[in-house]
Amino acid sequence: MKIIHLSDLHIGHKECGERFRTIIRNISSRMKPVEDYVVIITGDIVDNANKPEQREEAALSIEELVDLGYRVLVIPGNHDYGTGTIGNLRNVRLFKERFYRDSDITFPKVDIIHGTAFIGLDSTAEELNWHDRILAQGELGREQLGRLEETINDSAITKMMKVVYLHHHPFDFKIGRQLKDSRDLRKIIENRIELLLFGHYHRSRLDAIKVIHGKWGIPRCYNAGTATHKNGNYGFHRVIDLSRFDPAMDYDGEFLK
Ligand SMILES: [Fe+2]
Repeated sequence: MKIIHLSDLHIGHKECGERFRTIIRNISSRMKPVEDYVVIITGDIVDNANKPEQREEAALSIEELVDLGYRVLVIPGNHDYGTGTIGNLRNVRLFKERFYRDSDITFPKVDIIHGTAFIGLDSTAEELNWHDRILAQGELGREQLGRLEETINDSAITKMMKVVYLHHHPFDFKIGRQLKDSRDLRKIIENRIELLLFGHYHRSRLDAIKVIHGKWGIPRCYNAGTATHKNGNYGFHRVIDLSRFDPAMDYDGEFLK
């Protein structure tokens, strides 16, 4: 089983939707058999969740990937709950209905696939409780972190390979971009998981998106940037084979080419 990590599609922004369709076409022609792959999308699926046509286009594209036979796991980013800076609580329910067909789902969202635990976190919803609803930083919240700790300590899950995926950057401590409760997350996952995937940060220099394997004792840590290269920003389509212990075997699928 291999993972294809995409992030920050920003469907609805200029040609991002068309580029995602190109990515899907190239995945479907190059990555076979489909049962071998899990596609993980770490948020900012749409550019502005307040626009129904963007939500519709995103849902249709992801459904296409599912119809082709790929297992697809998604979690929300700040743009999936509003404009990216200002959120709207209504969009939380819409996201869950659209992508999970279950408005009562809570995070972490745990999927066990071929003996690997995929643990998805929502780093945006907690921000909606703030009076100003400013979303850029990200926060997991005490309740979600409590449930994450229970999940990681679960006797069945402890024995499995664990992949944690979220939208916000857990290691970037620059004002305005940090995950507010990054230190609490660290206490729970340090030395406990095999792979950490995220996105969110794709605006600036390439060195900010570089691979950071080994951080917090996690062998593989990847920021995908923006898969659709929003505004010419950096982005990767990494293909990750967890059965190989050497991350040097992972590669960029370059599905836009
Ligand atoms: Fe983004």
